[in-house]
Amino acid sequence: MASPVRIGWLQFCLQSLSNSPHFEIAMSNNIEGKVVVVTGASSGLGQATARLLAEQGAAVALGARRLDGLQALAQEINGSGGRALAVSMDVTQREQVQRLVDATMQSYGRIDVMLNNAGLMPHSPLERLKVDDWERMVDVNFKGVLYGIAAALPCMQRQKSGHIINVSSVAGHKVRPGAAVYAATKHAVLALSEGLRQEVKPYNIRTTVISPGALATELVDSVTEPDVAEGVRKLYDIALPADAFARMVAFVIGQPDEVDINEILFRPTRQEV
Ligand SMILES: NC(=O)c1ccc[n+]([C@@H]2O[C@H](COP(=O)([O-])OP(=O)(O)OC[C@H]3O[C@@H](n4cnc5c(N)ncnc54)[C@H](OP(=O)(O)O)[C@@H]3O)[C@@H](O)[C@H]2O)c1
Repeated sequence: MASPVRIGWLQFCLQSLSNSPHFEIAMSNNIEGKVVVVTGASSGLGQATARLLAEQGAAVALGARRLDGLQALAQEINGSGGRALAVSMDVTQREQVQRLVDATMQSYGRIDVMLNNAGLMPHSPLERLKVDDWERMVDVNFKGVLYGIAAALPCMQRQKSGHIINVSSVAGHKVRPGAAVYAATKHAVLALSEGLRQEVKPYNIRTTVISPGALATELVDSVTEPDVAEGVRKLYDIALPADAFARMVAFVIGQPDEVDINEILFRPTRQEV
């Protein structure tokens, strides 16, 4: 049985801690209660991130084209006491991205984080002239991010707070043969994010661009050339689980409001490029 002296000491420690300015920070993760919109939430990085943020107390609005995947995730989150909303949408259609943001505002009344994550990676050498793939990458990986910003920015300006997180890639830093167009779209996301960072300062909006290396998701399935896909799959033998990305997102959101982490570049320890 604990002695009265020990209980007294414990009470003293708890009281000192609760008087400390760090107590509140330690108790709040700066994620709980936030409203987070995630594009590309039906699989891979978007799905893992939505799940983790919901576990940490965020309300999540899930967007992608495959409604069944979104609804299953929303059911899982809502069923375990979280808050989630599923909206079928295509990021290449500006009004559909707007619809996701409008539905979020209607359900939750604000948007704290916009995670522009939807993307695809149909690598191929330029000489194969896979022009349809080039266009899809520009439309989804780059224009999709622009439409996400266009939809979320006005809400965040009104709120005078918010956080826009864009997903680039190691390919946004390094160009390799066969990956020229993908790398171009990811370089564009990097440049766009830096411009955004500088412009939104007056509105108290944080901006982050995350550039991951190989992560185990469905991304490789978007390669349309079978021989290229085989090569990419080999490179992905060392891929990290999608959770590694989700933790990065939680880390940047969870910082105190005055801390704005603008860039994260990470890869598997064994990834050479
Ligand atoms: N995995 C990696 O190694 C890696 C590395 C660096 C960067 N990234 C980037 O991470 C992001 C997420 O990719 P991932 O690895 O999670 O791949 P993934 O598992 O294939 O997920 C891609 C997501 O994007 C969605 N999407 C694709 N086209 C869309 C469209 N037109 N409209 C709305 N949603 C669309 C997909 O959903 P629907 O098909 O249901 O629409 C899916 O939810 C991408 O931007 C990718 O470039 C990934």
